[in-house]
Parts: sequence; structure tokens; C-alpha cells
Amino acid sequence: MVPIFTANFVAMMEFDYNLQPLTTFNVPAPVAAFSRFQSVEGLLEILHEAKPLPLYNNLLLLGGGSNMLFTKKFEGLVLKNECKGIELVQEDENYFYVKVGGGENWHQLVMHCVQQQWAGIENLALIPGCVGAAPIQNIGAYGVELKDVFHSLEALHLYDHSTITFDHAACTFGYRDSVFKHAYKNQLAILSVTLKLAKTPRLRTSYGAIEQELQKMGSLQPGIAEVSQAVINIRRSKLPDPAVVGNAGSFFKNPVIAAAHYQELKRSFPTIPGFAVANEQVKVPAAWLIEQCGWKGYREGDAGVNALQPLVLVNFGKATGSQVFELSGRIIESVAARFAIQFEREVNIF
Ligand code: EPU
Repeated sequence: MVPIFTANFVAMMEFDYNLQPLTTFNVPAPVAAFSRFQSVEGLLEILHEAKPLPLYNNLLLLGGGSNMLFTKKFEGLVLKNECKGIELVQEDENYFYVKVGGGENWHQLVMHCVQQQWAGIENLALIPGCVGAAPIQNIGAYGVELKDVFHSLEALHLYDHSTITFDHAACTFGYRDSVFKHAYKNQLAILSVTLKLAKTPRLRTSYGAIEQELQKMGSLQPGIAEVSQAVINIRRSKLPDPAVVGNAGSFFKNPVIAAAHYQELKRSFPTIPGFAVANEQVKVPAAWLIEQCGWKGYREGDAGVNALQPLVLVNFGKATGSQVFELSGRIIESVAARFAIQFEREVNIF
């Protein structure tokens, strides 16, 4: 039995694999081994067989590959989550509870929910990536974050093979942050996510350009379909399509600084934008800081800074991960030198 099992396993794994086409930055991404799973049983089978191998100590879950940048060879086993399914598991007076496979495409889920009139994620249209990755960085856009609709998730612990259910509190969601980036980093495969979607939509159109876009669309009484279309139009107008120009969305987080620091900056830079957040702190748009340092539209070889939304670093074609990383380092230095603000990368670097 064992040798046959091993033979199956070897057939399931591909060694010295290049993840480039499976990641949205589209830079060379060599990895020691790669495998896909469609169910928890499939994943357990792979883990069981990988256990004796050294690469078992270095496991990496891959979803849509939309938030990662490879700068060197990854000496481990990459596991691509292809668990599918969208299921209405429960409903009460106000909500639909929808359980979604971790390997489902996020945007397709948004479109499905809009079609079903399940409300709450319409502002999160066109975010690249898959459902299992959404809670890890608590994806957000246009005034909505995943945490606003999250109910629970099921994960498999990659090393003790237990199945764990996380409720909302257990995830400790923050701005582009959760427990899955800290205590459970690289420890879990998120198998499914259950969302709590409203029966009566509460439209969030106050953020930035949404209201304006709805007017342009001639939408006088918008519903969730119109709001998602407005978001799609706005995103298409300023964010590069990863299928055309490699990128991973926002490369840095918007920095949060002390209110006193902000006031001091305001004296030297009167136009500096800022949004008060809790505890005497102010969130400053990274895009503005990058633009002020002269990087907007900058290009060096095939690595560059998007000309419409400079928070997005891009690969025009043949850039390597280290070239993009090196450019990001110079941006960090220039922002620190001019504004005494330390950027944090939002994209995962390997
Ligand atoms: N800005 C500039 N110059 C520019 C563009 C923007 O100064 O060329 C300034 C303006 O002050 C503008 C502000 O940046 O008001 C904010 O810009 P935008 O609305 O485009 O949003 P963002 O803060 O740069 C965040 C998210 C995006 C999300 C948008 C919309 C982060 C790290 N990024 O970007 O998420 O789509 O808001 O809600 O929080 C992502 O995480 O990958 C991502 C794309």
C-alpha cells in the first residue's frame, strides 16, 4: 500500500515549479515543490506523504496569488487551495449565511451574491484573489471590510491536522490584519468561510467617488448591483488589470501616525491629507506621500509605480521580484527621509 500511495503522491506533486503564471505580479517565482487540493481529504493526503520530506517544514498556502512577491526561490511546498462551493447554509429574519469554499474566486463570489440579492460585499467587487485569503488580510475597499460580513471560518491546521473553527472574535481583525498574519502565520489552510449577508441592503456610497460614479451612471435609485458596478468602473479607471500589467494591488499599507506628528507635518505640508482614527492617531494616504516624493509614474526597466494610483507597484513585463522589491525599498527610504513616516509593506515577500 505505502509505495503505491507514494507513487500517487509523487504524481500529485510537481518539483522545481514556477508559480509565475499563478501569481498576479507575474515575476519569476521558482518553488521547490507544488501541489493542488480540492478537499480536506486531498490536502491531508498530501500532508501525510510530505511529512517525511524536509520541505514539510516550509509549507505555503496559495490562493489567487494576488498578494505575494517572489524575490528568490522558495525552498518549500506550495499548496494551492482549489476547494470550491457556494452554499446557503442558514437564514434568519435578517441574514443569509453563506458558506464558501476557500478556493473560490472572490470577485465571482461578489457577482454571485449581487445576483442573488445577498447584500454586504458589493463594495468589494473586483478585488483579486480567492475567498480563503480574504480574512487573512481582512480585505477592504470603499468603506467596507471583510470583517463587516464575516461570520466564521473553518481551517485545517497543517501540522497537527486538526480542524479549527474561528468565530469573528477569534480572528482579531484589524486594518489589513488578523490573527492569521501572526499566531497562525503559515500554519493553516482556510477551507471555507461563512459570510453573514443582509436581506435588506445597507448601501455604503459615501466613500470617495462612488456617489459621483452612480450619478454618472444615471442611477437615481441604486441597489447593490449598481453599487458594485460603480466600484468596478472606479477600480477599472485607476487600478491596473493584473492580467495586463503585473501587480498585487496596494503595495504598502496606509500608515497610521500620531496626531501630533500629523499636526507637525501639516505645518510644513499644508495640503497633506489625513483621516482621524482611534487613539489620537491619523491615517495618511500612502499614495499621496509616494506622489510627493516624485515616484508617481516612475519606471526603471520593467519595474515601476502606477501612474494613476502610485500605491500600486507594477511589473510591465520582464521585471524580477527583486527589482520590484528594491524599488519598494527606495520608496520607503524617500518617504521616511521626507516625512519621518515608516511604510509597512502590505504584499507578502518571499
Ligand atoms: N492619492 C494621491 N495621489 C494619487 C492617488 C491617491 O494623493 O495619485 C491620495 C488621495 O488623497 C486619495 C487617497 O490617496 O484621497 C486615497 O486614495 P484611494 O481612494 O485610491 O485609496 P487608497 O487609500 O490609496 C485603499 C486601499 C485599496 C482600496 C482603496 C479604495 C489600502 C492599503 N489600500 O487605497 O485597497 O481599493 O482604498 O477603498 O488600504 C489593496 O489593498 O490592495 C487595495 C487596492
